[in-house]
Amino acid sequence: MASFLLAIDQGTTSSRAILFRPDTTIAAVAQQEFPQHFPASGWVEHEPEDLWLTTLATCRDALSRADATAGDVAAIGITNQRETTIVWDRKTGEAVHRAIVWQDRRTADLCARLKAEGREPMVTARTGLILDPYFSGTKVAWILDNVPGARERAERGELAFGTVDSYLLWRLTGGRVHATDATNASRTLLFNIHTGAWDDDLLSLLGVPRALLPEVRDSSADFGETEPGLFGGAIAVRGIAGDQQAATVGQACFEPGMMKSTYGTGCFALLNTGDTPVASRNKLLTTVAYQLGGRRTYALEGSIFVAGAAVQWLRDGLGVIENAADTGAFADGADPAQEVYLVPAFVGLGAPHWNPDVRGALFGLTRGTGPKELARAALESVCYQTADLLAAMQADWPQGSETATVLRVDGGMVASDWTMQRLADLLAAPVDRPVVKETTALGAAYLAGLAAGIFPPPEQFADRWRLERRFTPTMSAATRNRKLAGWNDAVRRLLAPVS
Ligand code: G3P
Repeated sequence: MASFLLAIDQGTTSSRAILFRPDTTIAAVAQQEFPQHFPASGWVEHEPEDLWLTTLATCRDALSRADATAGDVAAIGITNQRETTIVWDRKTGEAVHRAIVWQDRRTADLCARLKAEGREPMVTARTGLILDPYFSGTKVAWILDNVPGARERAERGELAFGTVDSYLLWRLTGGRVHATDATNASRTLLFNIHTGAWDDDLLSLLGVPRALLPEVRDSSADFGETEPGLFGGAIAVRGIAGDQQAATVGQACFEPGMMKSTYGTGCFALLNTGDTPVASRNKLLTTVAYQLGGRRTYALEGSIFVAGAAVQWLRDGLGVIENAADTGAFADGADPAQEVYLVPAFVGLGAPHWNPDVRGALFGLTRGTGPKELARAALESVCYQTADLLAAMQADWPQGSETATVLRVDGGMVASDWTMQRLADLLAAPVDRPVVKETTALGAAYLAGLAAGIFPPPEQFADRWRLERRFTPTMSAATRNRKLAGWNDAVRRLLAPVS
């Protein structure tokens, strides 16, 4: 009987395919990186064909590694880098422009203009987002305004817009299904998270024709079948969620007050707030965590743009470490007397500051500062930023403070015991690392498996979540407060206007 679940995890730097067994163990993994394009300062693009071909190749590879055929797969679940924007021709399938990646800042001026016109309160009230180039809406507008003829073609219904999930689904189904799920839709600036529908006022504000848009479905739903020629037989697509939402599902954060944080290139913390879309007073985002059976569950999200990227910078930019995995050991050997702070605003700052123009800085350097102190500053910067997010979450949703005291973590950086211990110390809260660390892919597999009848409802699936290790705080309050004050001071100095 077909019982494997195939999770596609199309991320910012690589495409992965993971084949899960029904007991959530992994049968095979395949991964391929693809080129990043930086055509101008602050611009980041992907070639849509690269996203598609690496996805296809890794799916085929994972199947062959497990000696499985299309007939062995009960369903596919797609999870993806969010916000990244693609517009393509409905007839030929050809993209009219490269994908504009979530990190891309080219629409900063448009966002600033809309803010100056006083549009942000309405946008935030409906979308839960803020006017920042991070989200898809202004990227779509940029494509329509800058690709010759695109606007007219869009108005004639000849073009389609999608986030990466939607584009891959369209390719997988041979152009038969143009759909997305509510989590991805909630990152576009075009979707009203309260009504669960595209919003005409937002569409007209950004000049996006409705004819471009995909249909929005549940995260666990019928998304059609793959073109039989792709895998030697059709496979059902039954789950879609943005990668941070999929990680929330994979971490089984199904109860209000449960919280996860994923440490990849950036760091994204999501706090489940249940049926209530909590409006933030501290510049967090309100977003859809998942939509099941037509019911939306909401989350407060804190988005940090640089986490693992700070370690990459130590390795590839400065050359002070050879392997990312050595960073913890380096940090452990740092001189405790030196208080060095890195504010890694390499691409501006995300939550809770949202400043696209500021750039990174190091504070507290002395003649004695070396690679070890820099390694510690990089790892601690990730912990401090997480602490800022949690403080904002607790201020936004005080009733959650009783339950929101444990953080479930995943992503590449959580392999470092040193970093996880420092995180618990600086948060003054326990940090739980699960046995299954492929939580993003597991979330996608779960959503697909739920619709395919392989996995049980959320409450029962949550019982299968297993703790690998809990990190409990051991740092004294005095030390923690001194360190947090030093971080706050560093951020304040970076953001202070130059007089
Ligand atoms: O919002 C951006 C996020 O979805 C990107 O995640 O893991 O591809 O860096 P990742």
